[in-house]
Amino acid sequence: MHPNSQYIHADNTALIFDDLKFRSLTVKNRLFRSNISGQFDDYNGHGGNARLNWEEKFARGGIGCIISSFTPVSVRGRILVRYAMIDDDDKIPFWREIGRRVHAYDCRFIMQLSHSGRQQDMGGVENLFSKGLSSTCKSDYFHGLLAQAMTKPEIAQVVEQFAQGARRAREAGLDGVELHGANGYLLTQFLSSGINDRTDEYGGGWEGRARFVLEIVRAIRREVGHDFHLQMKINGVDHNDWLYPWIRKGNTLDETVKICTMLLDGGKGVDSFHVSSGSTFPHPRNPAGDLPLNDLHRWYDGMLSQGTRAPMNYAIFSNPLLARAFQALWRWRRGKVIEGINLDYARAVSEAIGKIDADIKVLCTGGFQHADRIAEAIRSKACDGVTMARPLIANNDLPEILAKANGPEKECTYCNKCLLNDLENPLGCYDLSRFDGTSFEDRYDKMIKQVMSVFEPPTFH
Ligand SMILES: Cc1cc2nc3c(=O)[nH]c(=O)nc-3n(C[C@H](O)[C@H](O)[C@H](O)COP(=O)(O)O)c2cc1C
Ligand code: SF4
Repeated sequence: MHPNSQYIHADNTALIFDDLKFRSLTVKNRLFRSNISGQFDDYNGHGGNARLNWEEKFARGGIGCIISSFTPVSVRGRILVRYAMIDDDDKIPFWREIGRRVHAYDCRFIMQLSHSGRQQDMGGVENLFSKGLSSTCKSDYFHGLLAQAMTKPEIAQVVEQFAQGARRAREAGLDGVELHGANGYLLTQFLSSGINDRTDEYGGGWEGRARFVLEIVRAIRREVGHDFHLQMKINGVDHNDWLYPWIRKGNTLDETVKICTMLLDGGKGVDSFHVSSGSTFPHPRNPAGDLPLNDLHRWYDGMLSQGTRAPMNYAIFSNPLLARAFQALWRWRRGKVIEGINLDYARAVSEAIGKIDADIKVLCTGGFQHADRIAEAIRSKACDGVTMARPLIANNDLPEILAKANGPEKECTYCNKCLLNDLENPLGCYDLSRFDGTSFEDRYDKMIKQVMSVFEPPTFH
């Protein structure tokens, strides 16, 4: 706990473990599992047993609400294969089972409706010969993933895919949906002034760029009504030029606040905002942490044939000197603060939205793993609740820990090894320094056992 803090742990837990009431959803505490993608499912997007085990882990650990991983609303919108999708009614039974499992722990479940757009890392064999749909024909600046600007019929089709995804989530008995409007995926590609270069009504100023998302919000409301929770993950600031200062900056905080106001749609639109930052994924600010060089070099090879810039990146990551220089740039652009990195953005959204409609809530993502920091974020009215990804990968029962102590004994180190392993290995904590043992082999065995725990219990006994 901060030595100068006037609050004791009991004050903090009173805030953190208080209900959070959205317009049509109540969550038992202020702790949300942020979206964490992992390749747990069938190649064709049918959910698998490992994902059921995975989600249940967090519900058991006391989290109030789980926000799902990136859930594609169509095959064309995949980022990687083996992610459960919501592109068809035949996926409803799987999501119903997910809901049933986590509800047993009085935990809510929100599905993240998503579309990759051009940011399709390895989109599967079905997408091999098509460019990623986007607002633009320009490839992404990082990997050079090719893009094709969407026609108006394609825009209308994707709007409908989001609406049907929301209807399926409701039919599955889930507690709400989140639009993935952050971190460089299709909705960011429309919203961001750093990416959207359209000259029709879906481009230009912030109102034009937000038109596509507003159409999605309205189509979802048409399908699910007004008593089903709808939230939006959004970048407070895009920082599109963060690595390469010569490219366009993207959205400012002021533009984001205006877009959020527009998406309220006069009280008929979204119920909550989930504030992040960074116009790509990953980005130095998201997940804010390190760039582990060994893992970077090992796992980026899968990207080699995906984008026009990928071979150049691979050459940089494979060269010890260039890789260190890139890592230094990454760390410098991330900055020193990790826990609460997006709080100023969340505060600006909270203040502006609160003046219009006090029922709209704000969640903030980025580094949270201490009770005093979380309580202070809520107490200072920067946000109403926090979302956590890596700290929960490291300590699945973090809510239970925070009820008793200010933070976990073995914290998440923000090393980002989980992120890079995720491209080919099961999701889990890969920071060996967090595992005790008598030898390297002993610690390594414990780490792998923890990673493999997601496959227990197995499908067949
Ligand atoms: C392995 C991994 C997978 C992620 N997958 C998603 C995702 O599917 N959708 C999303 O919006 N964010 C995703 N994120 C970002 C997190 O939800 C979160 O916003 C970010 O990591 C910052 O929170 P943290 O510091 O608590 O990890 C992912 C992060 C990690 C580390
Ligand atoms: S590998 Fe473990 S310690 Fe490192 S960022 Fe991921 S969860 Fe945290």
